[in-house]
Amino acid sequence: MAQLIAANWKMYKTMAEATATATALAERLQGRIPSHREVLVCPVFVHLAALAPILRDAGIALGAQDVYPADEGAFTGEVSPKQLQDVGCTHVLVGHSERRHILGEADALIAAKTRVALERGLAVVLCIGETLTERRSLQLEAVLFRQVSSALTDLPAAVTERLIVAYEPVWAIGTGEVATLEDIDAAHGLVRRMLRDCLGASAAAVRILYGGSVKPDNAGAILQLDTVDGVLVGGASLDAESFARIVLA
Ligand code: 13P
Repeated sequence: MAQLIAANWKMYKTMAEATATATALAERLQGRIPSHREVLVCPVFVHLAALAPILRDAGIALGAQDVYPADEGAFTGEVSPKQLQDVGCTHVLVGHSERRHILGEADALIAAKTRVALERGLAVVLCIGETLTERRSLQLEAVLFRQVSSALTDLPAAVTERLIVAYEPVWAIGTGEVATLEDIDAAHGLVRRMLRDCLGASAAAVRILYGGSVKPDNAGAILQLDTVDGVLVGGASLDAESFARIVLA
């Protein structure tokens, strides 16, 4: 199973900046992506179509940061799976902690997004993770279980081959405070067990990424953990040189 090295550009960059970063990244990675790695970049919606050809030529996949769980309709401001695929997306992030905690997305909406996007043929990176308060009050396992089971129960086995889970402890996102290798290993072990409980045998094909202050100088050690199948990178993915170093770490 190839490791997935994913960039979440969040709400950063103008069109000119996004194009320049994608071009620089494509130049750095052209013909150099290790055979055991895949690379994904997730810019804002309005940059997807422009970045698609630049990234595709370098063998880098394109993903959106969100999706609405319907094919079309009166959903002002939203974007459907088909519209994402139409501009070149193969992947989409769902349930990122910033959407859960800043935009107030609930488990039921995240479950619908996960299901519909998978059914329409997108690879879904389902993001989960506990807040510091939840961790300190020993709710890590309960929170992860709620987030995993609400999104994945009763998913048809045929679509789970496109499912990816990203464990992103909220307290490690954008804080420079990376979880310890022991924390990551333990949480990923828990998530793997929950995936087996929810999905049965098809859980084995689901990659579990770590996200939260991944940088060029800690990515190598994190990616060496047996329980880690890739990383989801925010801040350190905004610079082509820095993200390329993580891909090659
Ligand atoms: P940082 O890498 O900036 O901590 O962000 C992580 C993240 O939220 C990726 O989705």
